[in-house]
Amino acid sequence: MALILGIESSCDETAAAVIATDRRILSHKLAGQEAAHRPYGGVVPEIAARAHVEALEPLVAAALAEAGVELEDIDAIAATAGPGLIGGVMVGLVTAKALALAADKPLIAVNHLEGHALSPRLADAELQFPYLLLLVSGGHCQLLFVEGVGRYRRLATTIDDAAGEAYDKTAKLLGLGFPGGPAVEKAALDGDPKAVPLPRPLLGTPEPHFSFAGLKSAVLRARDAGTHRTEDIAASFQQAVVDCLVDRTRRAIGRAPGATALVVAGGVAANKAVRGALEALAAENDLPFFAPPLWLCTDNAAMIGWAGAEHFLQGRSDPLDFAARPRWPL
Ligand code: KG4
Ligand code: ZN
Repeated sequence: MALILGIESSCDETAAAVIATDRRILSHKLAGQEAAHRPYGGVVPEIAARAHVEALEPLVAAALAEAGVELEDIDAIAATAGPGLIGGVMVGLVTAKALALAADKPLIAVNHLEGHALSPRLADAELQFPYLLLLVSGGHCQLLFVEGVGRYRRLATTIDDAAGEAYDKTAKLLGLGFPGGPAVEKAALDGDPKAVPLPRPLLGTPEPHFSFAGLKSAVLRARDAGTHRTEDIAASFQQAVVDCLVDRTRRAIGRAPGATALVVAGGVAANKAVRGALEALAAENDLPFFAPPLWLCTDNAAMIGWAGAEHFLQGRSDPLDFAARPRWPL
């Protein structure tokens, strides 16, 4: 059994966690930056980078303390090295390099998307490779056939916006605030999902790709029509997103022969309507369904530590001059 320190700083959450290769989460600490970004209605990269600088060192110290360990007890240091906002990624990666150098520990540079992709295996030891994964976050919307650690076959992606981005933009259009996903989900609870006719872009097309830009424009038109309740627009928008995610994932099941499970991960996987619809799709196809607990869906350092653990168990580490990668496809 080995201990991994995980560090995450690729967007607007600063996080540090200590996890064990036997899946125990000894600590996970997180400092959100919502208040700093709220006046701008979205994440401001320069503000995010500065906030990461201030928050990270105390968070690492707190994560080690809560786990009851010293840096010397850690076996490897895993940090997000991309993709993401370059300033933030560099803060986390440079900090990880400094700790690795000071304590003479291996560095593991983690792809943030891989953190999301493997997070369901931290939550559940029963999830085996290969599995079909719907990865839905603020920056990405992909269907991946996860064959093993480091072996990801992308079956589909979005041709414009990510699902989380569509939630965030819709929240902004409807004046529901930031961050958008949870705000739209809450408003949708009081709305009628059939009230506003909205498009389902790419529904039924043979390739399982996604598109959400047209949906966002339709939300704008519905708002400007002035005849609909905000809650009804939110509920109708969410239903359209769910219908697209389910239809596209259903199509991808046929392209993932041998998949042992249907899995959803990433920030949008925290949405109960999304989880429920995918669980039903899995049941329809006699596939076990896995979704991480809500806190493990949105950005955190436990998933980065776990991706590091999966690589550590395979004997892999990275050189200390590993460069941050603002773009880094899986
Ligand atoms: O994975 P994540 O924390 O960061 C990225 O890597 O992008 O995902 C954040 C995204 C945001 O777009 C946020 O609005 C969305 O996930 N999100 C949700 C919910 N919670 C977070 N979307 C819908 N419903 C939610 N409950
Ligand atoms: Zn993420």
